[in-house]
Amino acid sequence: MKIFIDSADIGEIREAAAMGVIDGVTTNPSLVAKSGRSLETVVRDICEVVDGPISAEVIATDTDGILAEGKKLAAIHPNVVVKVPLIAAGIKAVRQFKQDGINTNVTLCFSAPQALLAAKAGASYISPFLGRIDDAGGDGLELVQQLVTIYRNYGFATEVLAASIRHPVHLVRCAEIGAHVATIPHSVILQLLKHPLTDIGLAKFLQDAKKIPV
Ligand code: E4P
Repeated sequence: MKIFIDSADIGEIREAAAMGVIDGVTTNPSLVAKSGRSLETVVRDICEVVDGPISAEVIATDTDGILAEGKKLAAIHPNVVVKVPLIAAGIKAVRQFKQDGINTNVTLCFSAPQALLAAKAGASYISPFLGRIDDAGGDGLELVQQLVTIYRNYGFATEVLAASIRHPVHLVRCAEIGAHVATIPHSVILQLLKHPLTDIGLAKFLQDAKKIPV
């Protein structure tokens, strides 16, 4: 399973990349706004730190605008993946991007029919927002399972990129289901490392090590 970091904070991205556990990065307008820097600057910096797919989202909501913004973003670096909202204008743009050899991540997916259309149009990635589905009282993991099954049934090349992951159990279940990618915030990467028995065990080993004769 590939793991992406869901962040526009270059410090967090550097730290995660240094652990060697990051295959790519996803950003969104909210994350970029939080960074206080321009989208282009953020994307350029990330591309210097991580050698993998870097999703950068368009703001336009009409096909021509999405295509224009997406082409500008894709020109920044070959690793840039243009993130497109799951609306009719976005799906049309995905088809064109595919013909132009530009990779896309179709975002804000909340249903299997939406994901089926994104795959038909030639999306490189589909991002089901499982945490937001859970927040609304649904079952986000069930959607991830549906997408993996549907894409596998028909051999779609689109990869399921599980997004809006809130905690380690989400990630583990996505891995069991067979999602191709999961994008997780820095906080969840740190949570993945933690286990109280590791800390207790290490403290004991270090204490006992002091009794070892030199
Ligand atoms: C994914 O690409 C999105 O940026 C992200 O996972 C959304 O997560 P959130 O629901 O925690 O904002």
